[in-house]
Amino acid sequence: MDKIVIEGGRPLNGSVQISGAKNAALPLLAATLLTGGAHRLRNIPLLRDIRTAKTLLYHLGATFEEGDPLCIHTDNLDGFEAPYDLVKTMRASVLVLGPLVARFKRARVSLPGGCAIGARPINLHLSGLQRLGVKIELQHGYVEASADRLVGNHIYFDIPTVTGTANLLMAAVLAEGQTVLENAAREPEEIELAKCLTNMGASIQGVGTSVITIEGVSQLQPMDHTIMPDRIEAATYLTAAGITRGQITVTPCIAEHLEAVIHKLEQAGVHFNIGEDSVQAIGGEVIRNVDIKTNPYPGFPTDMQAQIMAMMCLADGESIITEKIFENRFMHVSELKRMGADISVEGNTAIVRGRSKLQGAPVMATDLRASASLVLAGLAAKGITELSRVYHLDRGYTRLEEKLSGIGAKIERVKG
Ligand code: EPU
Repeated sequence: MDKIVIEGGRPLNGSVQISGAKNAALPLLAATLLTGGAHRLRNIPLLRDIRTAKTLLYHLGATFEEGDPLCIHTDNLDGFEAPYDLVKTMRASVLVLGPLVARFKRARVSLPGGCAIGARPINLHLSGLQRLGVKIELQHGYVEASADRLVGNHIYFDIPTVTGTANLLMAAVLAEGQTVLENAAREPEEIELAKCLTNMGASIQGVGTSVITIEGVSQLQPMDHTIMPDRIEAATYLTAAGITRGQITVTPCIAEHLEAVIHKLEQAGVHFNIGEDSVQAIGGEVIRNVDIKTNPYPGFPTDMQAQIMAMMCLADGESIITEKIFENRFMHVSELKRMGADISVEGNTAIVRGRSKLQGAPVMATDLRASASLVLAGLAAKGITELSRVYHLDRGYTRLEEKLSGIGAKIERVKG
């Protein structure tokens, strides 16, 4: 298995090109199932999760013309199943459920199990679909969904679930009549999906608010869409400037998507210059301790909790970091401790007592964002950090070593 080896302790300076957003691209790929034709998607990030999503579409009968745009043909779909082998590799495979039942009135999707960061059930996806008239049965580990017709309804989400909202949005655009999604997710990726669906002919109001109203239409046209820059990738590099006391500009970048992260990094002593299409972070001499609570957008993203924690390990005081989205998203803590961090965890709260330095160590990636946190810690630590199980990183960070080398990091991938 590949390893990433980092010799830390140097400030990073320069510009980083941000790739297309993984969590925007995944629902958009699923949305190509809604109607036949040649869909065009630009700025698709080259990531392991995207390859998994394409394998799934291929399994359902889609064909591809590679390039930018990526052209996806979905006229001759002949499968309705997301098999266990793909869903266990990537939970976001459940995003095909909504589009398949909307177009074909049937789908068979492996029920995802728990994952490293939490139980992550899909009960809200399923109860929402039932409200649209879909019959749901659980058979041998699979969700079997079928319907004669989909009819719009009021759906209230107990929790503003990101992929749940996307699934219901995709199902409702082809349902008969009006659907209202209440307490819907407001993430920028949700807005991106709704915009793309609207350009395909869907009628959607309230996008970006917690109440989304959809008037079903009988037909959609293929999409032609450019994927927005990845806000979590951008935020990770901005945090790299903070933790290494360097100066990093990320571009393209939509600063509005990063307000909560920028606000917290500013409190921690990072200075920002916001451009039209770029954000520059200038690390402060001293890292100040800040408290963080993760929350659904526009709150502080859970997908940045691990990275900010790495930075707080080097702060000049104690930080309290509370994880409110996932029940087990502190897997990076024990690895950060191996690098000399002083962290204790009580329930969903981590108390991070900042230290003046971290030491390089062999560490193990446990999930995507935990891996990013260990890379950041390794960039700031004295000595060599060897990160194993880097396939987690490859799920969500395009050409990470190349991008970091370009701004002065000593980092290399050692093929295993
Ligand atoms: N939840 C339920 N029932 C459901 C759905 C969700 O109880 O039916 C709970 C979850 O267990 C969790 C909370 O609701 O406690 C929020 O989960 P959500 O459904 O919003 O998460 P998700 O859609 O599975 C997406 C991202 C994650 C990101 C979360 C939160 C994609 C493909 N994944 O997951 O991204 O952490 O939203 O923002 O969009 C990542 O990129 O590293 C990643 C994990």
